[in-house]
Amino acid sequence: MDILHRIEDVRTQVRQWRGERLRIGLVPTMGNLHQGHLQLVKAAQDEADRGIVSIFVNPTQFGVGEDYETYPRTLDEDCAKLRTLGVDVVFAPSVAAMYPDGPELRTRVSVPELANTLCGAWREGHFDGVATVVSKLFNIVGPDVAAFGKKDYQQLRVIERMVRDLNFPVRILPVETLREESGLAMSSRNGYLTVEEKGRAAVLYQTLCEARERLLRGEPFAEVEVWGRDRLNASGFRTDYFSVRRAEDLKEPTTKDTELVVLAAAWLGKARLIDNVELSLNLDG
Ligand code: PAJ
Repeated sequence: MDILHRIEDVRTQVRQWRGERLRIGLVPTMGNLHQGHLQLVKAAQDEADRGIVSIFVNPTQFGVGEDYETYPRTLDEDCAKLRTLGVDVVFAPSVAAMYPDGPELRTRVSVPELANTLCGAWREGHFDGVATVVSKLFNIVGPDVAAFGKKDYQQLRVIERMVRDLNFPVRILPVETLREESGLAMSSRNGYLTVEEKGRAAVLYQTLCEARERLLRGEPFAEVEVWGRDRLNASGFRTDYFSVRRAEDLKEPTTKDTELVVLAAAWLGKARLIDNVELSLNLDG
């Protein structure tokens, strides 16, 4: 497995693979890899002949006062995990390599329809940073397929929209959320939780699942949203949002919509946790 830091070295490797007509899979990450990330790697490997994992804590997607400085950086451990999976290349650029003129975005990729709601309303500029860095990675690697987790549901929808609108020749592979036995979605930020908080964090997924049951029983969207927020706050969370949306475009659903997702973001101690569940309403039933 090669660990490459320079953009030119990635391009040289990719050019060679292209010459051999090999299909290339990319998994963008910020490192501190857990089983959820590794699941994405396996999914991409199944669809490609060569696998690249990028590890880059992207400064342009962190807001002022967020955890950019303290975000865990564990490159050696990450590479050891990726080596056991048979990944071909780890691309771990420096901030200077990705943003040679400084990490302020001069040119930016923006998906306003999707990026200013839910997490975007609480984290100004976050999805511009994500869309911009992912489009840079796509331009550097030129993957045939790229895997993204449904855990970051809004991010997945932003990337799908960007690929469609800007004609990136890449297929986006959505991957199911991997969870702890308790139901808690795996996340690098779970490391910010104390042992006690980690036990309580499972309430987030339990609440989302119960919200799904309530919606399937026909409870109105707005009532379920209020119920979910109250239940999380009563369990010691500080809830940013608990929202029922259309799965396809994250707009507010009407009573005619059947494909839905319930998304939540809530603080527990020092960690901001996000999670979601999808559901299909059967309006005839
Ligand atoms: P990061 O948080 O490291 O996540 C990298 C990828 O792993 C994302 O596609 C995310 O949805 C997926 N992932 C994380 N936890 C998961 C879980 N429990 N189950 C399934 N997939 C999971 O998301 C980012 O990095 C960045 O925003 C990035 C896209 C790399 C751009 O900087």
